[in-house]
Amino acid sequence: MKLRTLFIGLAAATFSAIAMAQAPVVIKFSHVVAADTPKGKASEFFAKRAGELTKGKAKVEVYANSALYKDKEEMEALQLGAVQMLAPSLAKFGPLGVKEFEVFDFPYIFDDTNELHRITQGPVGAAMLAKLEPKGIKGLAFWDNGFKSFSANTPIKAPGDLKGKKLRIQSSKVLEEQIRALGALPQVMAFSEVYQALQTGVVDGTENPISNLYTQKMHEVQKHLSLTDHGYLGYAVIVNKKFWDGLPADVRGQLEQAMKEATKYANDIAKEENDKALDGVRKSGKTAVYVPTKEERLAFKKALAPVHQKMADRVGKDLLQSIYKETGFDPNKL
Ligand code: LMR
Repeated sequence: MKLRTLFIGLAAATFSAIAMAQAPVVIKFSHVVAADTPKGKASEFFAKRAGELTKGKAKVEVYANSALYKDKEEMEALQLGAVQMLAPSLAKFGPLGVKEFEVFDFPYIFDDTNELHRITQGPVGAAMLAKLEPKGIKGLAFWDNGFKSFSANTPIKAPGDLKGKKLRIQSSKVLEEQIRALGALPQVMAFSEVYQALQTGVVDGTENPISNLYTQKMHEVQKHLSLTDHGYLGYAVIVNKKFWDGLPADVRGQLEQAMKEATKYANDIAKEENDKALDGVRKSGKTAVYVPTKEERLAFKKALAPVHQKMADRVGKDLLQSIYKETGFDPNKL
């Protein structure tokens, strides 16, 4: 009888050891935007390919729309290992102590995504991702969203139109300076709180790529949107380094392949998603969409140019110069 009990016990232990060995590695991927955005779609794409390529050995669970954590908390959760993967906007790495990422916030530094990709897909981008490692974070890729436009309840044709307005921004000192250059008042706020802040008048306006504006229904609480395209918003896909380094080598390799494919997908769909969102905004009839003229665009460029010099030290002059070299942008020659 005793022997039988022992045998059953041993069998149960063996069975649970096998089950554990076969249990998939779970990767919680948390983000703050809607599922129906470039980042939302790319994270789902990654989850699907990760499952396929690892043959079920890894299971990626995507939590959209700040369902698990808001902006600031998600960074802490990643470092603590409560989630394994995030894709925060590049404008949100300052509080972590990696100020260099705010170079992407410099107004008009990139004319288009071709210029941008020379940085994000090249050695400068790779060196930037490496700066995350001392923070216990590994940077896997850059994903695009798009170029930001200003919205408010009054028309925005000239930089002076935003004077005195309270404008919500992400947690970036470069963005703060950008708003000040317009004579407006920067208000740092988590993305999940923006709709309500606009609705209740806590802030007067904001900036975002149209895909974010539309999927959060911000256009329903903003009367004017001006297609200023004055700055870029994109993401770094990041993982907890200890977790990543601890994965079996074969699984990590397959996940790297899934990330490569997801990155291509993200960057392929980003422009189209933003174009579709703009169509949606126009069709809604809830906000007036203004397209600045060439002269008006130049006026915004000139008004925001001093931000480059003022914030050069924050991101590092060498880094800034290496980007100017790739893109040909010169804030002194406008
Ligand atoms: C924002 O806070 O405006 C954006 O960073 C949201 C996002 O992740 O695109």
